[in-house]
Amino acid sequence: MYSEKVMDHFQNPRNVGEIEDASGVGTVGNAKCGDIMRMYLDIDENGVIRDCKFKTFGCGAAVATSSMATELVKGKTIQEALTVTNKAVMEALDGLPPVKVHCSLLAEEAIHAALWDYAQKNGIEIEGLSRPKSDISEGEEEEDY
Ligand code: FES
Repeated sequence: MYSEKVMDHFQNPRNVGEIEDASGVGTVGNAKCGDIMRMYLDIDENGVIRDCKFKTFGCGAAVATSSMATELVKGKTIQEALTVTNKAVMEALDGLPPVKVHCSLLAEEAIHAALWDYAQKNGIEIEGLSRPKSDISEGEEEEDY
């Protein structure tokens, strides 16, 4: 049911933890399943993501997708990080079962929320980033999976 990569990232998640004095922190949840995700970003003066960590109260698919998402955004610029969608994360993991696709949205939205927090703290606007939802199950029916 799960790819080897999903199992690997679930059993050995990368970048679990917190970043003290993070440049941006984002927390999102999914009210339907009750899962919560928090992302921490450390962004340098050139707008490059030096480090990224996450903590979750979420299911195995949420752990695996967040682990992969943190690996993908590390070393990227903010603009590049915005291209790390849940679809990109799922591709990097060789897919997820359809019922678990929504779990991958937690990671994407939490990264966006952390970038939003960074932008707010620094009084800047990030092109292409709109205010993230705090509950990703809102309007889920309209999502095109
Ligand atoms: Fe809630 Fe996976 S079931 S994030």
